[in-house]
Amino acid sequence: MLKSLIEANNICKSYHQGGVEIEVLKNFSMQLLEGDFLAITGQSGSGKTTLLNILGLIDNFDSGSLNYLGHNVLNMSEIDKDKTRMTNLGFVYQSNNLFDDFTAKENVALPLLLSGVTKKLAFKKSEDCLAQFDLSTRCNHIPKDLSAGEQQRVAIARAIILKPTIIIADEPTGNLDIDTSRSVFDYFMRYTKKNNCAVIMATHNDKLAKLANKRIIIGNNDE
Ligand SMILES: Nc1ncnc2c1ncn2[C@@H]1O[C@H](COP(=O)(O)OP(=O)(O)O)[C@@H](O)[C@H]1O
Ligand SMILES: [Mg+2]
Repeated sequence: MLKSLIEANNICKSYHQGGVEIEVLKNFSMQLLEGDFLAITGQSGSGKTTLLNILGLIDNFDSGSLNYLGHNVLNMSEIDKDKTRMTNLGFVYQSNNLFDDFTAKENVALPLLLSGVTKKLAFKKSEDCLAQFDLSTRCNHIPKDLSAGEQQRVAIARAIILKPTIIIADEPTGNLDIDTSRSVFDYFMRYTKKNNCAVIMATHNDKLAKLANKRIIIGNNDE
């Protein structure tokens, strides 16, 4: 039987600003199993980022329950959440957030170095990982000397270098043109399938969302 990684039940989340309550998530429920590719779609402002931040243990929710690898998130301390994020989660964002002064190899090696891996091994693993994204000849380039698609492939390599169980991607191809999006997405899909990662991806792109095995549309459908 496939292992259940995340179970969300009736999650509600509102923001309060200037005396106004904005209800973003209302009774959101889902289950993520090993190897699942879950696409979350919805209009801009529908709450995709809010949801991913909750599922990525970055933000809190108002009511409902969230179970993570068998643990109730409400019983987890901030330290437990940090550890879970470090060991089980990889994040990919719309803008690549690469360090400008670091080479591709250094950017990808960073999570390994921070986790205590020796420099020599971290750089070797970083090169191997970049090779899987066909970037072997770009290891010593700094971000500004890479194309937008290559930069995003480096960012994805950095997000997955610690081999997370779950990858959370918030519009990972949102800043790219259609052809580059598709190419970056193909690398992403190939890597996650090969490593049996579970993926939660928010996207505007309907064609990419259709490639997922699970799909949730959030937000107001009657607009
Ligand atoms: N920190 C915040 N404070 C107040 N309102 C917020 C905050 N973050 C998001 N919102 C509001 O919540 C709604 C959902 O935002 P978001 O989750 O970013 O949507 P999406 O990612 O689908 O575009 C929007 O109306 C947005 O303005
Ligand atoms: Mg968003």
